[in-house]
Amino acid sequence: MRIALFPAEASTFAPHSDALFYALLIITGTIAAVVAIIIVTFAIKYRAGSKVNREFSRRPRIDIEVTWIVLPLLILIAVFFWSSDVFSTLYKPPQQMVSIYVIGKQWMWKIEHQNGTREINQLHVPLGMPIQLILTSQDVIHSFYVPAFRIKQDVLPGRYTNLWFTATQIGNFSLFCAEFCGTDHAQMGGNVIVLAPAEYGKWLNQSGADLNLSQRGFELFKQHGCNECHDRQSTVRAPLLNNIYGSEVKLDNGESVIADETYLRDSMLVPNKQVVADYKPIMPSFKDQLNEEEIVALIAYMKETTQP
Ligand code: CUA
Repeated sequence: MRIALFPAEASTFAPHSDALFYALLIITGTIAAVVAIIIVTFAIKYRAGSKVNREFSRRPRIDIEVTWIVLPLLILIAVFFWSSDVFSTLYKPPQQMVSIYVIGKQWMWKIEHQNGTREINQLHVPLGMPIQLILTSQDVIHSFYVPAFRIKQDVLPGRYTNLWFTATQIGNFSLFCAEFCGTDHAQMGGNVIVLAPAEYGKWLNQSGADLNLSQRGFELFKQHGCNECHDRQSTVRAPLLNNIYGSEVKLDNGESVIADETYLRDSMLVPNKQVVADYKPIMPSFKDQLNEEEIVALIAYMKETTQP
């Protein structure tokens, strides 16, 4: 069922999210209607001067008490489990996904595909394939919102957030920023363009990027001299970065962390925040030398050097 006031249901989440919404609307609507009817009925029945029994009754009606406590409780518990189930699918992404990087800035969305294709305020995705978005911001908090997919995710500076979806309809769908981020917040948006997989392949190939994202990362890796330390031949002892992504890293404070995107980013910009066990905190910060696009490319490169 689709009411025309709603945007298209264009992702695998959309029908689940809508079913939950309609169920909540029906439950709360029914309760509101019953309360309204009782108020109006009583207002008429007990109006000033009407001849009705106004005696106060002290006899508790146990059946009424039990019904109004138990019934809403059961309904709310059911809604809790249902919504938790819908919510948890948002955080249980499938293993194999097309990863696309999204960088928010005042006031545009910059998109980086794995093969090096870049676009602004447009996101091309293939139909029926799970897509993972890895989002970050280069200035303030933004929020990536595609109503037709029923997905929304805050985009934070200094951190990577994830979002995944599978588009189920070919077409153009509006993309918005859903977090007030300054003067042109209302203009910050564009389109998600869903193409058939073959069309998507053609679109990707015609972009003409000479280096893909991880190759660009590798170039930066050499340019900034990362390889001078992070290399087996190096005289400076620095952790090797092969297989780093997703691995467990032991820190000098005895804790360990999983090397995700945020960890890799922090290691470049605030290297002394988490120092690897048995290594000296000698790495300089690259805070003023790398922008968000370059950081994303370096991360893509480090992911590529991860052999499964
Ligand atoms: Cu970006 Cu609002």
